Amino acid sequence: MALNTFDPRSSAHIEAATGIWNAACGAGLSFSERFMRYNTDPAHWNGQGKHQAGQIVVVDGQPAGFALASVMKEPYAGAPYSGHIDALAVLPAHQRRGIGRALVAWAETWLRGQGCARVTVGASARTFVPGPPLELGSAGFFERLGYSRNGVCCDMARDLAGYITPPTALKAKGVTVRPAQPEDKDALLGFLKREFPTGWYWECVQLLEAGSRISDYVILLSARGVDGALLVTFEDSFRPLDRFYPHRLPRPWGQLGSVGVSADCRGSGYGAALMDGALRYLQARGVRGCVIDWLVIVDFYARFGFEVFRQYEMASRDL
Ligand SMILES: CC(C)(COP(=O)(O)OP(=O)(O)OC[C@H]1O[C@@H](n2cnc3c(N)ncnc32)[C@H](O)[C@@H]1OP(=O)(O)O)[C@@H](O)C(=O)NCCC(=O)NCCS
Repeated sequence: MALNTFDPRSSAHIEAATGIWNAACGAGLSFSERFMRYNTDPAHWNGQGKHQAGQIVVVDGQPAGFALASVMKEPYAGAPYSGHIDALAVLPAHQRRGIGRALVAWAETWLRGQGCARVTVGASARTFVPGPPLELGSAGFFERLGYSRNGVCCDMARDLAGYITPPTALKAKGVTVRPAQPEDKDALLGFLKREFPTGWYWECVQLLEAGSRISDYVILLSARGVDGALLVTFEDSFRPLDRFYPHRLPRPWGQLGSVGVSADCRGSGYGAALMDGALRYLQARGVRGCVIDWLVIVDFYARFGFEVFRQYEMASRDL
C-alpha cells in the first residue's frame, strides 16, 4: 500500500477518487466528477482561508482508497482551527485491511500540522456530507478510531407537485419574497454580513465572485430592506446539486437551504414566508424532488410537507 498526494488538477485523480466514492457508497450517495472537481477546486475561497489536502492509496498499482482533509483559517475562521475529514472512502474489495485507518492517521497528522485542535468528520466548506451517512454504517469505524458520536442530523425531502402554501406561511405582514436580482447584491451581502458573518456570508461572497447567478438567493424584503435569505439549487446551478444526493426522488431536482432571518425579526412569521416563497419559486420552475439539507430541528420543515429523507451521524475528536 502506498499513499500518493491527491492533485486536484489531475483528471486521473479526480476520476479515481470519484470512482472509489461511488463504489464504496453506492448509487444513492453517488456524485459526478464535476462535483469532485468543484469540492477540490484550488481556487475556492480565492486560495485564501481554506486549506485542503488529500491522499490516494494505491494497491498493486491501482487506486483503492482516498481521503480529503481541510481547515478554515483567517479571514474566514480564527484559531483554534477546527479541521475536517471532508471525505474518506475505500473500495469494497479493499475494506477491513487497514486502509481507512491509515488515511485517518494521515488526515489527523496533517490537520495537527495546520494548527487544528479538533477534527470533525464531514461538515467542511464545500461539503461532501455533514457526517458519516447512517445508511453506510461507518460511524462504528470512526468510533473505533476514538471519535465520539455527537448526535444525528438529517436531510428532508418532498415532491413539490401539489405543494400548496400551508397556513403557517400566511402570518407575516408587509413583506415581499422574491429571487434576488443583480441590484440586490449589496443589500443581500449586508444582511448576511450582519446576521450570519461566518459561514453564510463568506459562502455568498465566493459564490457570486465565482459566477453563480444571484437569483439562486431568495430574499425577504421588509420595510427596512433585506431581512431574510435562503439559497436554492437547481440542476443547472453553479453549485452542483450532486451534494444533496437526490437520486431516489422524481426529477427535476432542486434544493433549498436553511432559512436565515434577522435576529430581531424572529417570531414574526418571516421564516415561513421565506420558505413558502422559495418553494413556490422552485415549483414554478418545474422542480419535483426537493431536498432541504443538514437539519437538526425538523418540525418547522415538516409543516411544509417535508419528511426525513436521509440521516447522518455527527462524529468528532480532539487532536
Ligand atoms: C469507513 C471506511 C473508510 C473504512 O475503511 P477500511 O479500510 O475498511 O477501515 P480499516 O480496515 O482501516 O478499519 C479500522 C478498524 O475499524 C473497523 N471497522 C471498519 N469498518 C467498520 C464499520 N463499518 N463499523 C465498525 N468498525 C469498522 C475495522 O474492523 C478495524 O478494526 P480493528 O481496530 O479491529 O482493526 C470504509 O468502510 C468505506 O469506504 N465506507 C464507505 C464510505 C464512508 O462511509 N465514508 C465515511 C464518511 S466520509
